[in-house]
Amino acid sequence: MSKVFTVSDVSLHNSKSSLFVVIHDGVYDVTEFVTQHPGGEDVLLESAGTDVTEQFEDIGHSEEARAILKSLQLGIVQRDTKVKSTLNDNKSAISIDSQINYSGASGFLWKDVDPNIAYLWIVWVLCFLLFTKYFFGS
Ligand code: HEM
Repeated sequence: MSKVFTVSDVSLHNSKSSLFVVIHDGVYDVTEFVTQHPGGEDVLLESAGTDVTEQFEDIGHSEEARAILKSLQLGIVQRDTKVKSTLNDNKSAISIDSQINYSGASGFLWKDVDPNIAYLWIVWVLCFLLFTKYFFGS
C-alpha cells in the first residue's frame, strides 16, 4: 500500500480496463469496483484517472463506503508543493498537470508572441530605419 504515484501516473489509468482515482491523498484502484458502485459506473468512468475528492465528499458517502475505499487503496499520490495550493481549488489532476506546464514556463517564448503584434513591430522598425536613412543618411 506504500506505493507512491505521481499525478500523471494516475492519469494514465483512465479507462474501464484500468481505473484509478485520487481521494484526498490516496490512490485507489476501482477497476473491479466500478460495476458494483451503487452510484453507478458513469460517475467513476467520467472522472477516471483524476482527483474525485470533491465529488466523493459532496455525496456524503457512508462509513461503509469509506471502508470499501480503504480496501481499494494502492498507495498515495505525491504532488508538487507548488501545485498543492491549486489542488485545494478542487481542480482535476489532469488540469493540474497542464497548469504545471504553463506556470512553470518563464521567460520569453516565441510561441507566446501574437503574430499580429510581431508584424506591427517589424513594420515600426522598418519605418524607423527608413526615417533615419531619409534624414541622416548620406
Ligand atoms: C471510488 C470510491 C467510491 C466508493 C468506494 C464509493 C462507494 C459508494 C457506496 C458504498 C455507495 C452507497 C451509499 C453509501 O454507502 O454511501 C455509493 C453511493 C453513491 N456514490 Fe459512490 N463511491 C465512490 C466514489 C464516488 C464518486 C467519485 C462519485 C461521484 C459523484 C460517487 C457518487 C455516488 C452516488 C451519486 C451515490 C448514490 C447516493 C444515493 O443514492 O444516495 N461515488 N458510493
